[in-house]
Amino acid sequence: MTDSAELSPQRLGEDYFQSPLGYFSRLREEGPVTPVVLPHGDRVWLVTRYADVRAALADPRLHKDWASKLASPDWVPDEVTAYLSVHLLNADPPNHTRLRKLVSKAFTARRVAGLRPRVEAITTSLLDAIEARLAAGADTVDLIESFAFPLPVTVICELLGIPSRDQAQFREWSNAIVASSAEPGGFHTAGAAMYHYFTRLVEAKRATPADDMVSALIEAQDADDSLDQRELLAMMFLLLVAGHETTTNLIASGTLALLTNPVELDRLRADRSLLPGAVEELLRFTNPLNHATDRFTLEPVQIGGVTIPAREWVLLVTSSANHDPARFSDPGRLDIGRDTGGHLAFGHGIHYCLGAPLARLEGEVAFGALLDRFPALSLAADPATLLWRKSSLIHGLEQLPVRLR
Ligand code: HEM
Repeated sequence: MTDSAELSPQRLGEDYFQSPLGYFSRLREEGPVTPVVLPHGDRVWLVTRYADVRAALADPRLHKDWASKLASPDWVPDEVTAYLSVHLLNADPPNHTRLRKLVSKAFTARRVAGLRPRVEAITTSLLDAIEARLAAGADTVDLIESFAFPLPVTVICELLGIPSRDQAQFREWSNAIVASSAEPGGFHTAGAAMYHYFTRLVEAKRATPADDMVSALIEAQDADDSLDQRELLAMMFLLLVAGHETTTNLIASGTLALLTNPVELDRLRADRSLLPGAVEELLRFTNPLNHATDRFTLEPVQIGGVTIPAREWVLLVTSSANHDPARFSDPGRLDIGRDTGGHLAFGHGIHYCLGAPLARLEGEVAFGALLDRFPALSLAADPATLLWRKSSLIHGLEQLPVRLR
């Protein structure tokens, strides 16, 4: 057993952002449970081996509700901080159970399957717009700006009932919220802007309800006391950010993975029945999230033979788990036919991704349509020059220039 006092934290730097998997493969060998310092100065513990990560994701000794359990009793949050802190990913049972029940009906596999025609229609119109740019003389496009971002954001905005004219604004806010490099105030400023936007939207929907999730949540709120105003706004915030930051990266990083592994790409082109399995392998291989969201200890907790002291933050590194050779053979090889059962890209346990069926649907539709529409799709940049976003949580490209003919 290792005494936690022996481990002195290193600061996460550029080597982490540009090649997190290389960084984690060293950690799995040298310090699978280890403290590090994040760019903004906070200390966290990283857990990097598959077996430890999976067990810890379902371990009730790792808590999420920091506002009630960790913050000092004298702490009085401002209105915006209070709302940012009461969503599912900051909740433990029984609050978590109550909140999740309110939205889980909208995200069952059956309900989501009903969205397929709409996801296909949005995909078709985005690909039409790309073709129009080609017809006007453009040879290359940034696949993120033209496809991987607008597809999931349009879908989640439509589900929630957010007008499409406001989507670009959301990208800016949501980027600021997940960026590690942003000055700490960036998170708060963007969170505040969303808070005011959502407050106005709820007022408008309360006056004129529509067939969307915000109206349904307002109805649930008005029917009994099960959801207060802060929780309603926080739910919208979480669904919006979680609903597009991740899927954008599945589509973009997944396309990059296919284009840099031509044998697998040809395999998929030749046999479309491989598509659902390919999406799972692309999730395992590319990991739109480097790690699960923050958890903390209230008492000393032993993980992988290391004791993490009380009141410490812990990050369970799902991407590292998905590349642990002890669980997936030859993990650095993309193999769209492999058995990916048990991959942790959507987490595990009570916080398992609520949007997993929707993300899978969007991935299948997006990859299928992209391959059908652009048989000559290729990279328009040397993969070594592509930059990854500076976020410890989100693993995604800044841009993905592609050539379409
Ligand atoms: C490829 C796309 C996606 C990936 C990789 C992903 C990944 C994850 C992961 C790893 C978690 C668990 C976090 C933790 O335990 O700390 C999670 C939770 C969650 N995800 Fe996703 N997600 C994706 C898409 C979506 C979409 C499309 C939505 C919504 C429409 C969504 C909504 C949520 C919500 C609400 C939670 C919190 C669940 C809870 O705490 O009970 N996600 N996601």
